[in-house]
Parts: sequence; C-alpha cells; structure tokens
Amino acid sequence: MNDVNTMRAISQDTLGGPEVLKEVRLERPEPRPNEVLVRVRAAGVNPTDWKHRANGGFLGEPPFVLGWDVSGVVEAVGIGVAAFRPGDEVFGMLSYPFGHGSHAEYVTAPARTFTHKPDGIDHVQAGALPLVSLTAWQALVERADLRPGQRVLIHAAAGGVGHVAVQIAKARGAYVIGTASAGKHEFLRSIGVDEPLDYRGTDFAEVVKDIDVVLDTIGGETSVRSLRVLRPGGVVVSILPVGSADFYEEAERLGVRAVRMLVDADRSDMRQIAELVESGGLRATVAKTFPLADAAQAHALGETGRTTGKLVLVVD
Ligand SMILES: NC(=O)c1ccc[n+]([C@@H]2O[C@H](COP(=O)([O-])OP(=O)(O)OC[C@H]3O[C@@H](n4cnc5c(N)ncnc54)[C@H](OP(=O)(O)O)[C@@H]3O)[C@@H](O)[C@H]2O)c1
Repeated sequence: MNDVNTMRAISQDTLGGPEVLKEVRLERPEPRPNEVLVRVRAAGVNPTDWKHRANGGFLGEPPFVLGWDVSGVVEAVGIGVAAFRPGDEVFGMLSYPFGHGSHAEYVTAPARTFTHKPDGIDHVQAGALPLVSLTAWQALVERADLRPGQRVLIHAAAGGVGHVAVQIAKARGAYVIGTASAGKHEFLRSIGVDEPLDYRGTDFAEVVKDIDVVLDTIGGETSVRSLRVLRPGGVVVSILPVGSADFYEEAERLGVRAVRMLVDADRSDMRQIAELVESGGLRATVAKTFPLADAAQAHALGETGRTTGKLVLVVD
C-alpha cells in the first residue's frame, strides 16, 4: 500500500479501555455504485463509540473503526450518484449500527446517508450534530409527535442528545423541563429550557407532573419512574435499555405509552435538521475538539459522563 491509496484511521485489535485505540493506516475505500467517498473533516464522538470500544456491542470482535458522525467534503462519487459532486460539503450519520467507520480520514457510504452541510456552520459544528440530532428528532417528532404547547421532560438536557432535543422541542413550541446538575442550569436556560431541574437534589418523579412527552436518556429505573409523571395518553420515549418488562406493564396500567427506540440513518430527517440549523433554531455546543490521533483522550473524557454538549474529532 502506498500513501496515496491509504488513509489514517483509529482502530483497535482488542476490546478494552481507551488505550486500545491506536492510529493505523488502512486502504482508502472506493465508492461503489450509489455511494460517495467523503474526506472526513470532523466527526462527533458519542457514548456508543466508547460502549462498542469496551464491549463490542452490535459489532462483536475487533478489529473495527468506530465513528458514526461525519462532516466532510465529497471526494468522489460512484455510478448513479446525482445528488452530489466532488467538492460538495456534506454531513450525515453512517447507517447505525453497521455503517460505522468515520473516525478516519475517508469514509464511503450510500449517498442517501448525506445532505448538504448548511453554509452557516463549520465542519466541527456539523460533525457534532448528526447522531444526536437524528436521535432527538426521531424520538420527539416521529415517535412522540410533539405538538406546540405540550410539556416535555428531557433527562440529561445538557448532554449531547439532551441539548439538541431541548432546541428541537422549543422549535416545535413545547414547554421544556430539563434535568442537569445545578452548575449547568445557566447553560440549560441559554439553550431554551423553561424549567431546569437539579436531579441530584430533587426527585423528578416527586415534583414533575402533567407531562406529555419524556425523552429518557438514562434508562433502567428512570424509564419506569418517568411513566408516573405523564398525563393520561402521554409517552416516554427511551433511548436506552429499560431494565425490565415493568416499563411496558406499568405503562399499560397507567394508560400511557412506553416506547423504546434506536436511531436510524435517514436523509429526509437530516434535511429537516439542516433546515432547522439554517433557520437558526439549532446549534451544537462543542465542549472540546481533539485531533483524530487523540481519539483515546476524547473517549476517556466522554466516558466520565459529564460532558456539556459534544466532543468532536477534527481530521486535518
Ligand atoms: N438508542 C439510541 O439510538 C441512542 C442514541 C443516542 C444516544 N443514546 C444513549 O443515550 C445516552 C445519552 O447520550 P448523550 O450523547 O446525550 O450522552 P452524554 O453527552 O455523554 O451525556 C452527558 C450528560 O449526562 C448528564 N447526566 C448524567 N447522569 C445524569 C442523570 N442521572 N440525570 C440527568 N443528567 C445526567 C450529565 O450532566 P451532569 O454533569 O449534570 O450530570 C452530562 O451533561 C447514552 O447512554 C447513549 O448511549 C442512545
């Protein structure tokens, strides 16, 4: 392999801590029919990256290259691609879970994965958005059908998914209650939260009521307890394992809905997210960027579970 045909990527040979991540040279992929080759400029790091690094998850045994978020520049297009041409700036989420591999200099994916990057944001912003925005959009808009004037509770509202979900909920005219530790309440207000709640000092299930939609980013007991703050007919959309069958049984008993979801790549959802960005209704807060080579540091910081907004890898 000579340098022109290869690329830098972050790979791993074993499951384990951040130290298993290493920079390698791999063959540069070529776009097949209906695919584009994108030169990655920035790629968000998400909890699913460090979970897969540690336990293999959907991917099983390494070696593999992680990363689902992409913002970059189209380098080449395969036969049949009409929507893009080389030089176009695009962003999107690789098919979840098996399309992974954006923590590298180049990635190929079906053209339908991507949409044009809004002009008003840079690649770091755009690379932060796809996975968390699709998650929040699909939970609030598609699963919950969130309407103007409805009351929504967003757990971990300062996190990657949460801070984007708050903005999507506000754009749809909802009243937003968001949980975070007290030091993050000013941040929550700055992104539009109407009522910040300190989950450490207060039990949300005791003080919150008449909620139409809960976005559950915590799972387990929190999923079940979230059902109790709903109005009749309300819905909890959980994006994590809900622990037990109690979630569904308790929902039936209370006359509410319990929904579990997994994010799915979708160009028309990405287009609506891009429109929200273009209209000024959605911005990612980027807590820290790292060069691609320092992916292990990004994993280690993310894994503390205290990030406000997003961590992003920048590919020079
Ligand atoms: N099913 C899916 O498709 C899907 C998609 C995306 C994400 N997820 C999952 O959703 C979870 C959240 O993802 P993320 O990207 O938002 O994570 P993240 O950015 O790492 O979340 C960090 C935030 O969580 C907050 N937090 C931690 N424990 C909390 C608690 N008990 N109550 C309220 N806030 C709490 C922290 O605030 P404080 O410092 O104030 O505690 C911090 O701001 C992850 O487990 C991820 O794997 C699932």
